[in-house]
Amino acid sequence: MLLRHQSVFELQLEAGSYDLVYDSGCFHHIPPHRRNAYVALVSRALKPGGLFGLACFRPEGGSGYWDQEVYERRSMGGGLGYAEERLREIWSSTFRVRVLRRMNKPSTESGLFGEPFLWALLAQKM
Ligand SMILES: C[S@@+](CC[C@H](N)C(=O)[O-])C[C@H]1O[C@@H](n2cnc3c(N)ncnc32)[C@H](O)[C@@H]1O
Repeated sequence: MLLRHQSVFELQLEAGSYDLVYDSGCFHHIPPHRRNAYVALVSRALKPGGLFGLACFRPEGGSGYWDQEVYERRSMGGGLGYAEERLREIWSSTFRVRVLRRMNKPSTESGLFGEPFLWALLAQKM
């Protein structure tokens, strides 16, 4: 396995070469003016029919800042929360949203991660 530590915007990704892209908690740290570029980057990386998995803040998990506030405050406030319709809208440009649900919180004994202030999204590249 190859691990790289760098900004997603600096990655040299071969177009159409990935079956799956998984984002655990990065998208909600992407500032609004880079959002479309991020969606395009994920889409470009995936093969047609490839899957995108996302864990990101629901409204109650995020800072509560509107896009404009990010620039007024010069801060993301720890990450942006997304309403369901907004998240669908963003990821429906080149994807079909297959699953969008509140993340489950598994029992402590399970050893699994999950928090109900997060969305779990699975989308497929069209
Ligand atoms: C909430 S943490 C999530 C960490 C880990 N993936 C997890 O699920 O526990 C957000 C992560 O997004 C990363 N991040 C934010 N902007 C990024 C960017 N432009 N490129 C790559 N990583 C970024 C941060 O470095 C940070 O590690």
